[in-house]
Amino acid sequence: MTSASITTATPLQDDLKAIIAPVKEELAIVETWLTTNLIDDNPFVGELLSQVFQSGGKRIRVAIALLGSKASLTEGRELGRLNIIQAVLTELIHTASLVHDDVLDSAALRRGKETVNKRFNDRLAVLLGDLLFAQASICLARIMNPVVVGIYGQVLGDLCAGEIKQMRSQFNVEVNWEGYINKSIGKTASLFAAGAHAGAILNAAPDSSVQALKDYGVNLGICFQIVDDLLDVTGEATELGKQPGSDLRAGVVTAPALFVLEKDDAAAKRLCELIKTRAIATDEGSLEGISIIKSTGGVEATVNLAGHYANLAKESLSKIAPSDARNSLESLINYVLVRTK
Ligand code: FPP
Ligand code: MG
Repeated sequence: MTSASITTATPLQDDLKAIIAPVKEELAIVETWLTTNLIDDNPFVGELLSQVFQSGGKRIRVAIALLGSKASLTEGRELGRLNIIQAVLTELIHTASLVHDDVLDSAALRRGKETVNKRFNDRLAVLLGDLLFAQASICLARIMNPVVVGIYGQVLGDLCAGEIKQMRSQFNVEVNWEGYINKSIGKTASLFAAGAHAGAILNAAPDSSVQALKDYGVNLGICFQIVDDLLDVTGEATELGKQPGSDLRAGVVTAPALFVLEKDDAAAKRLCELIKTRAIATDEGSLEGISIIKSTGGVEATVNLAGHYANLAKESLSKIAPSDARNSLESLINYVLVRTK
């Protein structure tokens, strides 16, 4: 590592480094797999694959998969090939879904770089996403465990169902908490849960540990999505690497807006009007929406809601045996809660 990379590391990066320490070596293998082994015979496709995997992703799902696997191992055992493949698989599905998501959102930026759809076109981005899903199927075949195939099959369905729910409720102010949490489970927490507990299945861990890791993943995933939705209101483009305010502009009602809309006051009525009339999709409308949310406690209430799911994730962890990996899973909760990008 160069001295420049040490001096530019932020406190959050330092936190993440400490968190991944128990699986550092395995994480490096996963990284090599994603950035080298996947390179396609076709140089153009190979270049696209490196673009998506070398674009500064945080690899949170890889960390969850490896740490969940390690936390479920019995004393003296080490992580194996199947645990590595499960971590690769989890990141492949995540990346594929983002490539498709950027098409659906017509997004121009992801992690500060031009999206594939912007650089080329939607058709190419859809095909690249499909190619990544195909790579994920090969990983599943290598794992050769029907229960794990079922879990990840469900995840793919949940991702699509979550996105469809979101699409169907754009500019709809009738969204309620149950719908919002269910959508968040579909588009985010389902993959977190699979990542967290599938390794325990491969390690033949006791059912109680498998369930505890699954619950951890669901709760952490919901927490992650709530923070994501909060950052869309409070975040800065330079830090996020994408344009904030895009949820409101697209008429997607998430936690910060829901907290305002559930009240029966002038602020709720105004936000409701901005969404219903689609004025929220304009520069002025979205700025007004953000300002209403910020001035009426929507941000603080959302932080508290994320904290609630963080606590549930922590409680789930208390049901597995103590270990370095479990400690890291616990620290990861705080990382997700205070992240700024
Ligand atoms: C990001 O949401 C998107 C997701 C978490 C999941 C997207 C899933 C799909 C597009 C379906 C995938 C397709 C198959 C075949 C399984 P966001 O737009 O709220 O976040 P962002 O601001 O990072 O884009
Ligand atoms: Mg998006």
